[in-house]
Amino acid sequence: MNSRIPVDHRVEASPWRPVRWLPGLLGAIWLIVGGANPAWSAPVSETEAGADTAMQEPIAPLPLASTEDPTKVALGERLFGDVRLSRDRSMSCLTCHHFDRGGADGLPVARRADGSLLSRNTPTIFNVGFNYFYNWDGSTETLEAHAERLMLNPEVMDADWSELLERLQADPAYASAFKAVYPDGLTKASVLDAVATYERSLVTPNSRFDHYLRGRREVLTEEERRGYRLFKSYGCVACHQGMNIGGNMFQKFGIFPYSPAPAHAGESDGRVDFGRFLITQVERDRHVFRVPSLRNVALTAPYFHNGRAATLESAVDTMARVQLGKTLTSEEIGLIVSFLRTLTGEYQGQPLTTPPPESR
Ligand code: HEC
Ligand code: HEC
Repeated sequence: MNSRIPVDHRVEASPWRPVRWLPGLLGAIWLIVGGANPAWSAPVSETEAGADTAMQEPIAPLPLASTEDPTKVALGERLFGDVRLSRDRSMSCLTCHHFDRGGADGLPVARRADGSLLSRNTPTIFNVGFNYFYNWDGSTETLEAHAERLMLNPEVMDADWSELLERLQADPAYASAFKAVYPDGLTKASVLDAVATYERSLVTPNSRFDHYLRGRREVLTEEERRGYRLFKSYGCVACHQGMNIGGNMFQKFGIFPYSPAPAHAGESDGRVDFGRFLITQVERDRHVFRVPSLRNVALTAPYFHNGRAATLESAVDTMARVQLGKTLTSEEIGLIVSFLRTLTGEYQGQPLTTPPPESR
């Protein structure tokens, strides 16, 4: 069985992303003309008739099941939870990507096992196979390259390949499992392949919104449908679109100025995160970030690369102001948030949830 999502499959699955530059272009056109499809720009009060036909939707439902090779997935799952991946054996991938926190950690910025902080918020690990770039600055374009970068990063796992391979080889269970699945056994490439294959298997289908997209219009309340129409007509969908409702383009964070104290300006420790500029050193990439996926977003507070927005309401308020130059009423924010809450899916047949605040 093929262990990678073929690129063609992803392209096919998202008619909005036939080539890499197209969504950016569409987004720009969208922002200029203020919504390309008259049905999407319809007033909130307008009845459903004709406004929501499946063919017109800028968002596609997630596939119902992962097609990844289960033996590789199982190996990757073990690696994902294995502290031997970090040099001092203090952290595994699960240290920051919790399955009961929407695949993230519930913290403003990530925290290492020793309590020290990283500079950015942990993005969800769910549905990462549908993103086109990884990390807030889009530093890598494949999950394999991302995993290697992260494992060697002295700030995170601080691993060294020869040491890590020796460690895993010394565990007979790993050595034989790798031998059984990969012709070359345990190598750097097979470790990265197993981790990436597992990550691609972390799909969360069956959100209420996906049922709606598949034609069961009645699963969304009137309020949620109004929220979705606002999401389209106000232009959120120009950036958050495709199968992952984001994850496929870069945009400046803060297109419109907003004061006082914008959540996007500066970090809590006073430093400035220049985002994509750190990767490209190109001036126009200053403050540019990868547009994040909004799937399961109700479970992954706090928000933004710096974790500066504590609630979904405040994230939506900031987005409208700084990305669209609009001030939303609290009713509009509430409607959009009610739509965003329909994006929570299931993992292995179980609805994703977070524990109630008092038990955290
Ligand atoms: C100490 C916390 C921490 C640990 C441990 C950790 N991560 Fe992350 N992860 C993060 C943070 C923070 C980011 C965002 C980094 C950035 O944007 O610069 C991230 C980003 C990612 C992304 C990119 C997601 C996206 O959509 O952009 C993937 C994939 C990922 N991590 C997988 C892993 C894997 C695999 C491991 C284990 C080998 C791991 N992480 C261990 C905190 C952590
Ligand atoms: C011009 C592109 C653009 C538009 C339009 C836009 N967004 Fe965003 N959105 C982004 C970017 C870029 C980020 C990441 C910002 C950061 O933290 O660096 C983001 C982040 C978010 C987040 C936080 C996600 C997380 O996991 O932290 C939410 C929620 C969100 N957007 C919702 C919306 C809503 C609702 C609208 C419409 C009112 C909207 N966005 C309009 C580009 C856009």
